[in-house]
Amino acid sequence: MNTVAVAMQTAPAWDRDLIGRYDLAGPRYTSYPTAPQFRDEFGEGAMARAIERSNSRGGPLSLYFHIPFCSRVCYYCACNRIVTANRDRAGPYLARLERELAMQAQLFDTARPVTQLHWGGGTPTFISDGEKRRLMAAIGRHFRLLDDDSGEYAIEIHPGDTSVESLRCLRELGFNRLSMGVQDFDPDVQAAVNRFNSVAEVRTLVDAGRGLGFHSISMDLIYGLPRQNRASFDRTLDEVIGLSPDRLSIFNYAHLPHLFKVQRQMDASLMPGPDEKLAMLEHATARLLAAGYVFIGMDHFAKPDDNLAVAQREGRLQRNFQGYATQGDCDLLAFGVSAISAVGDTLFQNHKEIGDYNAAVDSGSVPVARGIDLSRDDRIRGAVIESLICHFRLDITGIEDRFGIHFRRYFAAELANLRAMADDGLLEIGAREIRVTRAGRLLIRRICMVFDAYLSGSGGQPRFSRII
Ligand SMILES: C[S@@+](CC[C@H](N)C(=O)[O-])C[C@H]1O[C@@H](n2cnc3c(N)ncnc32)[C@H](O)[C@@H]1O
Ligand code: SF4
Repeated sequence: MNTVAVAMQTAPAWDRDLIGRYDLAGPRYTSYPTAPQFRDEFGEGAMARAIERSNSRGGPLSLYFHIPFCSRVCYYCACNRIVTANRDRAGPYLARLERELAMQAQLFDTARPVTQLHWGGGTPTFISDGEKRRLMAAIGRHFRLLDDDSGEYAIEIHPGDTSVESLRCLRELGFNRLSMGVQDFDPDVQAAVNRFNSVAEVRTLVDAGRGLGFHSISMDLIYGLPRQNRASFDRTLDEVIGLSPDRLSIFNYAHLPHLFKVQRQMDASLMPGPDEKLAMLEHATARLLAAGYVFIGMDHFAKPDDNLAVAQREGRLQRNFQGYATQGDCDLLAFGVSAISAVGDTLFQNHKEIGDYNAAVDSGSVPVARGIDLSRDDRIRGAVIESLICHFRLDITGIEDRFGIHFRRYFAAELANLRAMADDGLLEIGAREIRVTRAGRLLIRRICMVFDAYLSGSGGQPRFSRII
């Protein structure tokens, strides 16, 4: 079978009536429970106990480092970031990251191999090459990094803020995956959102990245921005498909101006309406499938031979705070302001405000601010949601065997809700499995929400973006 035929098997089906009825706001389920459920009572003690249990189980580690700085603000941005033109601000922050590393390394069995490493932001490429070297050296002093290029070591780069020289430095440091924020190439859109990176800049970095032997290059695009329309987005797609990234994220612009004040800088009347957005996504999906990309799910596409697509075919795909992951069985330890860790049956997050983070590290405390010890029910529901979101199917018998429950009794209310969705053609409920149809794929978040025990009664301003 050729790659386009493989890709077409993953195609979601478009049913505007269904999308209109089910397209509510909802979590992206990079964890279950989601971050709003984390509690302040969860302190250093709970974290240390989780790490102790994790050490006795052993296994590989995944490390995440949050570098929050950006040299200018993009008006659409919903990330945790600090905008400053002053590059000197990085030094003191990195010094604190090193202190945090040292504190965590005392708790962890550091003989465990680091099979996944991710630097995210903000903009990790804000820091100088010297600072990158120093941070990687500190990580290598405290944890067992792999030196044979077999780990998945990724970094988010802003193409307008990265040189070929810096890419060379990153490759030398052991990174083998690049994730580039592209968003949109149209000059009018770029001006409207104050985010600039030209096709030429991106092409130079893609060519250099390939020449340097990076295993995978991924790109982020956003649809729903001011001045975007089908025709303009199609031109961006022409360029992006020509650049041939291994993975692509096509994010729905999350417009939450009550949470992210900078979004008020944009003229909302210039943003495409729901019908235009849906048409943009439908067209983008068709184009990417025709170009041989596989639809992974929830905004993500990958070439059929990319690890993500292979892991999905082999039933190994998992979900973590960076989205989809091929090695989700690792404990994830995250460093820096706002960073979220998943260690054993706990989730915990560092202080979100830089002042609080600094104060905690300066006083010699691990800067964990909140978290949650997963209950048995959380773990069961988390496994159900992860399976649906990663594989569009749920092995009922597998869940029963793993957790010792009678699925139909345990989830009687949820199954009643799902039956309405089954009648609408979103999924099929069999004796041993639940299978999401092609029409249900785009609405997978909505299907998962049925299993989310924390959602009912969340009134007030929306905390989550719309599904499409
Ligand atoms: C931390 S940034 C990536 C690295 C770097 N800061 C950059 O912008 O190139 C993560 C990604 O989140 C996406 N993003 C940010 N704000 C968003 C929003 N409001 N809605 C949807 N996607 C958003 C963008 O696609 C961005 O590339
Ligand atoms: S999109 Fe990236 S570069 Fe732009 S403000 Fe957000 S984190 Fe910074």
